[in-house]
Amino acid sequence: MLNIPIPDGIDGKIIRQAFESTDLMGGASPATTTQPAGFKMIVGHGIDIVSVDRIRQMHAEHGQRFLDRCFTPAEQSYCARSEKKRYFEHLAGRFAIKEAILKVLGTGRRGAIQWTDMEILPNELGQPVLKLSGEADRIATDKEIRRWHISISHIDTHATGSAIGEK
Ligand SMILES: CC(C)(COP(=O)(O)OP(=O)(O)OC[C@H]1O[C@@H](n2cnc3c(N)ncnc32)[C@H](O)[C@@H]1OP(=O)(O)O)[C@@H](O)C(=O)NCCC(=O)NCCS
Repeated sequence: MLNIPIPDGIDGKIIRQAFESTDLMGGASPATTTQPAGFKMIVGHGIDIVSVDRIRQMHAEHGQRFLDRCFTPAEQSYCARSEKKRYFEHLAGRFAIKEAILKVLGTGRRGAIQWTDMEILPNELGQPVLKLSGEADRIATDKEIRRWHISISHIDTHATGSAIGEK
């Protein structure tokens, strides 16, 4: 309980009502006891940042084996559609978002999840859309994640990905 003086009058009433709707005055918070109909719950949020040079280097060292391990054929085609300069940026963006998704799933890089269990392709507006399969899909189902919000950004040196899983 907060031990601060609350003024009388209308200001005090407003402050008291605000506190009473939280746990600050020891009362139950309506927001935590009853959720409005259609309320969605965030299960987790993950972000990641990837160096484009690191992706370029892995590609130089492992070639197609690296591509096939990390990206589905459709993702590889999408990234290869761009001019050469941005090819590794698109790959790095996908790599970053996959790491962000692993953070939401809570597994990190451990476990039986394959990188290709996560496929990120653009919709007609260019917005990235996630499709899960295999172990990643199983874990997401276990966590009751029904909807994903994902976002990718990249410049010539780095790519970032942000993912939110919602119940
Ligand atoms: C979304 C947009 C503002 C981002 O521009 P940017 O700052 O230059 O680029 P960023 O590196 O920050 O972001 C690129 C990522 O934005 C995402 N993106 C693209 N269009 C998007 C959209 N309509 N909504 C949400 N995200 C979008 C993609 O994931 C893209 O990366 P990817 O192609 O590797 O998947 C810009 O791409 C845009 O205006 N798009 C409108 C639709 C369009 O022109 N599409 C062309 C694709 S055919």
